[in-house]
Amino acid sequence: MAMKGRVFSGMRPSGKLHIGNWLGALQNWVALQNTYECIYAAVDIHALTTLGSQNDTSEIQDNVREMVIDWLAAGVDPNRSIIFVQSHVPEVLTLHTLLSMVTPLGWLMRVPTFKDRVRQMDETEETVSYGLVGYPVLQTADIVLYKADTVPVGEDQIPHIELAREIVRRFNNLFGQTFPEPQHKLTPTPLVLGLDGHQKMSKSLDNQVELGATPTETQARIKIAFTDPQRLRRTDPGRPEVCNIFTLHKFFNPKQTKLIASECTSAIRGCVDCKMELSDSINSALGEFREKRAEYEGRPEIVREILMDGGERASKIARETIAEVSDRMGLQLPRK
Ligand code: TRP
Repeated sequence: MAMKGRVFSGMRPSGKLHIGNWLGALQNWVALQNTYECIYAAVDIHALTTLGSQNDTSEIQDNVREMVIDWLAAGVDPNRSIIFVQSHVPEVLTLHTLLSMVTPLGWLMRVPTFKDRVRQMDETEETVSYGLVGYPVLQTADIVLYKADTVPVGEDQIPHIELAREIVRRFNNLFGQTFPEPQHKLTPTPLVLGLDGHQKMSKSLDNQVELGATPTETQARIKIAFTDPQRLRRTDPGRPEVCNIFTLHKFFNPKQTKLIASECTSAIRGCVDCKMELSDSINSALGEFREKRAEYEGRPEIVREILMDGGERASKIARETIAEVSDRMGLQLPRK
């Protein structure tokens, strides 16, 4: 079958992934392999843009490995897709510098995620690193180094992909048609909330359910989840529309949602049982994933090989792009 185009996406190495990553991104990455030529990167250089005061980089490579194991276990397939670590293809750093020459600072300062990050990190526009300001330029370099036309991302990333298009347009205008304008492709799954019931599921908020957790751990995590805060007694009717456990049932028990909702609103079902049922569904949905995860965990050399091979395949494309960009920009970068 003819493929529709080339996909590139990247994930920051946050270590073991959770069900929010799975529903929100990974399942989509896996599905796209059927219709696109896919390139997926563990973006370890991006991890350096938000170094805290503790400057702790010792976990980055472990986090890369754990995350990639989750990708593989979920069905990201190294035989069909290129899976690699961003820093294994340092050409991205060259392209980042070159693209920065055609990127007005104002474009970067207006990116909403930039302002958010500065606030989160307790920085000001004076103290924030040059690297963080340039984050979307590095992201653009990721995408266009491989001349990808399609970028699956969550909603928060749309401004970055729009910026990537603007940088590409500007580059193409100045130096001749070189890069396709990348389009974002939104993940069909909406935002997945964490166990606190009101913030996005994320490891840094410690409100996540890890994909690789054991069935018992999963049950223990789901047990602490917030439900409808107004349902204080077992006999009170619940409100599924405000309950995140119910939202998770929609993903993991799509056929039962009507029944669950009516049992909840009529107080036939209590939260404890409801959570047990959800844990069981999550555990059965992830059974195969967890088996595969354990296999890769026990064979680290296979994961290493997959990443080496992916890096080589990515390098080949990257070197061609850099040669072309070098010519267009009037440079004489060495050809490798
Ligand atoms: N910025 C993305 C995020 O925080 C990660 C990322 C880096 C990315 N490079 C990319 C996503 C290229 C898509 C394409 O989620």
